[in-house]
Amino acid sequence: MTKKSPYSALDHQRQTYIDGMSGKLPLVPFDIQQLAKKAKEKISPEAFAYVAGGAGLEDTVRNNRSDFGKWKIIPRMLRDVSVRDTSIELFGKKISSPLLLSPVGVLDLAHKEADIGVAKAADETNISMIFSNQASAPMEATSKVMGNSSRWFQLYWSKSNDLVASLVQRAEACGCSAIVITLDATMLGWRIQDLDLAYLPFLRAKGIAQYTSDPVFQRLIDEEEEEKNQNPVKINFDTISNLIELMRNYPGGFWQNLRSKRPLKAVRKFINIYSRPSLTWEDLPFLRAHTKLPVILKGILHPEDAKKAVDVGIDGIIVSNHGGRQVDGSISTIEALPDIIKAVNGSIPVLMDGGVSGGADMFKAIALGAKAVCIGRPFVYGLALAGKQGVIEVINNFKADFELTMGLAGCRSVSEISKEMLVKR
Ligand code: FNR
Repeated sequence: MTKKSPYSALDHQRQTYIDGMSGKLPLVPFDIQQLAKKAKEKISPEAFAYVAGGAGLEDTVRNNRSDFGKWKIIPRMLRDVSVRDTSIELFGKKISSPLLLSPVGVLDLAHKEADIGVAKAADETNISMIFSNQASAPMEATSKVMGNSSRWFQLYWSKSNDLVASLVQRAEACGCSAIVITLDATMLGWRIQDLDLAYLPFLRAKGIAQYTSDPVFQRLIDEEEEEKNQNPVKINFDTISNLIELMRNYPGGFWQNLRSKRPLKAVRKFINIYSRPSLTWEDLPFLRAHTKLPVILKGILHPEDAKKAVDVGIDGIIVSNHGGRQVDGSISTIEALPDIIKAVNGSIPVLMDGGVSGGADMFKAIALGAKAVCIGRPFVYGLALAGKQGVIEVINNFKADFELTMGLAGCRSVSEISKEMLVKR
């Protein structure tokens, strides 16, 4: 497919079958479970655990997915669906499908192309990417490959307001059109898979590129007095090999990093300031004062929080439980969505993510009132399997599946999808 060619679900479907006639199989599996399984075979156990894992018993990871099944679509017939338009407008930008890429950190665990590969894929498929605060590449480098394509920046509110202001100003400068504040990860959830492997990428200077590229963060490292190491680790072969990895992952030359110990200082500083568990509603005006961009809250699950967001002038909400990675046993996002839509009463756009696994899930979320949906793990698995092209395939599969579901259910455009087309059984 040529860059930004008009996309048709039927062309994509037809081409796949025609390719099969000459023995060419799809680059990434269409089946979402196979997609995860193949990705697992491709990347390290630590990387897969970090991506796939959830908090605690992972009930919420499962429920995010299975609760979509409680809703059934009732298709309508004889409505001339020969022309279908899946595009929507979101915060003043037209995107080709009500589909965005959730912010996902440490993408280089999946593939060396990481954020840059994903950004190119988002650009080529004309959907929005949300840059993660924990990205593997600085936002400036990622924006550079996206032309005018839509991108947002996701912020973890640091203990340093200077750093918050700096990150947001950089996001504005590199063309981001909204700021997403993630609220549900002020501390890391109890992630069993990562704990069992005793693996946290940030300690190896992975996923901290937005920080190491930030002038305020660099200043904060310089200002910090040498802190005593509170948790001394025993030096053995593993410590040394992990330190070597740390020196390699950090920008700059290996020997210079070794001499300056800057990677160690940066990781320590990052751990100390990356998030602020004391954050409250009263902090939000600070961000308003530092950006003209729309501000979106990610991680809202309670209708009262949704109402409060509207009251304090927030521009949008992403109903999310961080893909089940934070509070195990929390409500699934598709279950939370209807009450939030009711609470917001059409005043601001509501998006959702968590467990979205195909076009039918997209249709259901939109029928329940979501303006658009975001996906996390599925595109990461595509990245793991085939870099940028893998992400393009995953996006195109979601887009095509959605377009066909929409048309076959009797809708010519996203605005024709309505709650009357769903039943809960
Ligand atoms: C995430 N998520 C996330 N969210 C966020 O706001 N900032 C981040 O840096 C990350 N990082 C991250 C890493 C990995 C590996 C995963 C799987 C998820 C959460 C993400 O934005 C989104 O809410 C979920 O991934 C959505 O659920 P699904 O689509 O993965 O089921």
